[in-house]
Amino acid sequence: MVSTATKIGTFDFDNCLMNAAGVYCMTREELADIDASAAGSFVTKTGTLNARAGNPEPRYVDTSLGSINSMGLPNHGFQYYLDFVTELQNTPNSKNHFLSLVGMSEEETHTILKAVQDSDYQGLVELNLSCPNVPGKPQIAYDFETTEKLLKDIFAYFTKPLGVKLPPYFDIAHFDRAAAVFNQFPLAFVNCINSIGNGLVIEDETVVIKPKHGFGGIGGDYIKPTALANVHAFYQRLNPTIPIIGTGGVKTGRDAFEHILCGASMVQLGTVLHQEGPAVFERITNELKAIMTEKGYESLDDFRGKLQYLD
Ligand code: SIN
Repeated sequence: MVSTATKIGTFDFDNCLMNAAGVYCMTREELADIDASAAGSFVTKTGTLNARAGNPEPRYVDTSLGSINSMGLPNHGFQYYLDFVTELQNTPNSKNHFLSLVGMSEEETHTILKAVQDSDYQGLVELNLSCPNVPGKPQIAYDFETTEKLLKDIFAYFTKPLGVKLPPYFDIAHFDRAAAVFNQFPLAFVNCINSIGNGLVIEDETVVIKPKHGFGGIGGDYIKPTALANVHAFYQRLNPTIPIIGTGGVKTGRDAFEHILCGASMVQLGTVLHQEGPAVFERITNELKAIMTEKGYESLDDFRGKLQYLD
């Protein structure tokens, strides 16, 4: 019997597919739809200390090869999402979930995480170190010193399972440096990758989104090779106790298979979920299972990380 079940640390999931933070996860209603689908879990929209309206519209556009967005972290405030995941965890047979968070400053991030630490929530937390769309705020994980200090300060008081959502890195020296930082901490997972930040899409002579004169995060087909490279680079470098979530360019079972082959324990859907809605989880799960059946694999463990090289 072919199974796409997986684990992140001590957390079990019946299916390795879930949404990516930012897609179909802004409201309780959207999150409930994902929960009721074939997805193994959901992650909430990244919650900030206070609710945010985000950037002016248009701020998301689908393209023939994917998408561009500059949402600017619109969200209902972290407490809205914390309340929902805590409520769900207390319902019988609840799936396990991920709560995505970040502050608009280091101080705000600590305020949020201390509130989560003091709450009844026992699930996974994803710290978003990679939003490219807030004007004036660089992607935190591109600054290794700031990232290292932030994680050191967080793990001085935070004892619940916490992972990080990373931006793509593009240089072997940066994979080495980033992994050396992350290996110092008891991370529950790393998630590779957020959108490729600050691309431009143009129609006729004009940008297609309003914020930041058209600059926005790129998702979809454009980013799969970069996502696979980041998943595999971290799979090669991180302590085996840190599982990897693969995100970027997944729109078929074959794409999910490739992420797992590169080392992903779980795979997130972004642009394709925006385009097709929650029914996409069943389609891609069936496609992944068909590939596993054809290859004689019964579980993800049979092929996770077993990417073959030409030498
Ligand atoms: C956004 O809200 O701008 C997208 C979220 C992200 O890229 O982290």
